[in-house]
Amino acid sequence: MSVGAAIRGEFPILEHTTYLNSCSQGALSQRVRRAYEDYLAGWDARGAEWEHWVERAEAARGAFARLLHAEPTELAVTTSVSQGVNGIVSALPFERGGRNRIVISEYEFPTVGQIAHAQELRGAEVVHVRPGADGSIPVERFAEAIDDRTALVCCTTMSYRTGHRQDVAEIARVAHEHGALCLADSYQAVGAIDLDVRALGVDFVTGGTVKYLLGSAGLGFLYVRRELLAQLLPTQTGWFADEDIFQMDISDYSPAADARRFDAGTPPVPNIYGGVAGMSIIEEAGVAAIEAHVSALATRLIAGLDELGATVVTPRDPAARGPLVCVWSNDVARLVDELAAERIVVSLRDDNLRVALHLYNVEDDVDRVLAALAERKPLLV
Ligand SMILES: Cc1ncc(COP(=O)(O)O)c(C=O)c1O
Repeated sequence: MSVGAAIRGEFPILEHTTYLNSCSQGALSQRVRRAYEDYLAGWDARGAEWEHWVERAEAARGAFARLLHAEPTELAVTTSVSQGVNGIVSALPFERGGRNRIVISEYEFPTVGQIAHAQELRGAEVVHVRPGADGSIPVERFAEAIDDRTALVCCTTMSYRTGHRQDVAEIARVAHEHGALCLADSYQAVGAIDLDVRALGVDFVTGGTVKYLLGSAGLGFLYVRRELLAQLLPTQTGWFADEDIFQMDISDYSPAADARRFDAGTPPVPNIYGGVAGMSIIEEAGVAAIEAHVSALATRLIAGLDELGATVVTPRDPAARGPLVCVWSNDVARLVDELAAERIVVSLRDDNLRVALHLYNVEDDVDRVLAALAERKPLLV
């Protein structure tokens, strides 16, 4: 399967809608719909299929691992980013006066910031790293905030608010210089940007299937660098994290030796069916091909926005952006509603209109949204 026009037939919504909202949720494919139907058919035909469900969870783990260029033993299957981040912080002591600081970028998703601040109840201090006037957060700002008391640095790969891409590799390097760990929430990148966890040198990567992985809510992942596993004991846990799930032993805590120690309860089986199907579309297209396709569309979009005299919030440098292009508006809610009335689905955050590009988008989609914006120039200046 390919990208652009060649794949559009898989996604019924594209027959009638210009869909530019993959930063919120990827479009539903026929393949994902069939996967959900298979789940229901199996339930009808055979009842509980525990062994098959465990096998499907392992299929999801394998797909996540391939997408990140990691080993399956470095991946936990979660229900959300929140579960993964809670698992990590639950394994860190945050003793007052000791290594108790969590450094977070201003572009973290609320769940990361809120979980970090919740650790204040356990002795943590949270340090915020704010963007400069141009909206980017240079690595130097992280370097100023990270010191020998930093336990964890959270740097989202792509800002869901502005489309800025952070230099995760450099931030991880600075974190490591100070003995800190580094987490990259990559929800807004995975599936649209080729992420190689080894090349990034980052300790943790988390994300989920709702957006560019084309699945539904309720399935996520946490990558944990294998060298760290032995020293990290999550205290947020569950029986699917145990070294022997079906031993049914309540006498101790004996987590799996690999990253499955960050799993928790019963796997989200229906979402795994959908997620594995969605990820198979991404894998067949190839993330590198998707990244190149999306980058070219973003370049076209930004050039068109410049012609309109709009304020593009997302960086122009292709290396500093990804599938999300944001543009400022003086009435963004109205803009989103008016475009929706023309069957152009975009979204908003802060004062920014968000246009998200994915493998199924084509130049026509970009031209269509630009034409709709050209008719509403007063909302852009
Ligand atoms: C960057 C980012 N992180 C996390 C989430 C969601 O977190 P969770 O899976 O805990 O709902 C989203 C989107 O919903 C996101 O865009």
